[in-house]
Amino acid sequence: MIVCVCHNVSDRKIRQAVEEGVTTMPELRAQLQVGTCCGKCHSCAKTVLRECLEDR
Ligand code: FES
Repeated sequence: MIVCVCHNVSDRKIRQAVEEGVTTMPELRAQLQVGTCCGKCHSCAKTVLRECLEDR
């Protein structure tokens, strides 16, 4: 599933970033630019990030 349309970031990419050590939204933004364009994906990205962190 695509989370961030503007930067073509999928939930899979977010999961991968978490596996590489990302734990916060600012880190995720810095790494994947997620949410840095229109910002509509912010809450979805946050949810995916939280789920990935819970699954670790
Ligand atoms: Fe993520 Fe626009 S959909 S910044």
